[in-house]
Amino acid sequence: MSGRLSGKVAIVTGGARGIGAAVAYKLGLEGAKVVIADVHEEAGKWREGWLRSNGVDAFFIKTDVSIESDVKNMVNETVKRFGGVDILINNAGIGFSGKSIFEQTLDEWNRVISINLTGVWLCSKYAGQEMAKRGGGVIVNIASTRAFQSEPNTEPYSASKGGIVALTHSLAISLSKYKIRVVSVAPGWIDTSEWQYPPRKPSLNPLDHAQHPAGRVGNPMDVANLIAFLVSDEASWITGVNFTIDGGMTVKMIYMDPDVLGNSIGTMVQDPELGDLIIRVLMSGGAKLTELKRMIKTMLNS
Ligand SMILES: NC(=O)c1ccc[n+]([C@@H]2O[C@H](COP(=O)([O-])OP(=O)(O)OC[C@H]3O[C@@H](n4cnc5c(N)ncnc54)[C@H](O)[C@@H]3O)[C@@H](O)[C@H]2O)c1
Repeated sequence: MSGRLSGKVAIVTGGARGIGAAVAYKLGLEGAKVVIADVHEEAGKWREGWLRSNGVDAFFIKTDVSIESDVKNMVNETVKRFGGVDILINNAGIGFSGKSIFEQTLDEWNRVISINLTGVWLCSKYAGQEMAKRGGGVIVNIASTRAFQSEPNTEPYSASKGGIVALTHSLAISLSKYKIRVVSVAPGWIDTSEWQYPPRKPSLNPLDHAQHPAGRVGNPMDVANLIAFLVSDEASWITGVNFTIDGGMTVKMIYMDPDVLGNSIGTMVQDPELGDLIIRVLMSGGAKLTELKRMIKTMLNS
């Protein structure tokens, strides 16, 4: 295929599923030859076939980004197959949530940091060396809006993503002399169902979409479209910075009040009248709230 990335070679870590799979597809549509490097062999092989049947010159290399010998092999095999490396998308990552810091173990902390953060450092080191030989390149690191704000019990994940943002500007300065640009992208809520292995139908409710200033939850192609621009020559003056892509969620100020609660419930169940009634009961307080509580208990027990 021909496009903005014709003749370029891209490695997408974690490219078998989710955001990485969409990025691999988009870069391929723009003309790049794409290596998908993923720890999940079955999904990786399946995605390689899917990409090829959609016209992308793709190749899967089984890789655990937290293991140095795997990363060296990923880069060596890419050079053998496609002649060099121009673009690296450090996308592979795992989540963490639901456990208080008092229960989190050192092993859990180390696992998240080694895949999400050390993996970015390792892949940048070895792919960067190949880019330097080619006279330049671009590295895009996938961070998260959780680098900047948090729900409870997410310390390893948030710290790994904050680390990626800092690693990005550090790499950008160190690698500028090799004409290697380095940026990070921090997605908000991206529904990856349709890019999973196997693909699934999204199961989002109206409130999930409505709470975003952009009116909807994000999808992997939103992120892929931004990345395709960032790795192209159109972005040649951009390095060292982070791009948040979150449908406006992180700039939205949220204060809880009866309007927010009532309208949220009305949107979720797609019944604005119920939302209005709940607002009025919440505003009136006292006896009406006690009555509402009694009615809900009766309903639940019936
Ligand atoms: N989906 C979101 O809402 C969201 C939001 C912000 C940031 N992110 C980030 O985007 C990236 C992709 O997320 P996703 O939602 O598509 O996740 P996903 O789980 O759908 O895909 C991640 C891929 O990475 C692979 N992977 C995991 N550990 C690996 C390892 N050690 N080595 C190589 N590959 C490995 C998995 O096998 C999988 O194919 C992650 O870094 C994630 O933190 C996602």
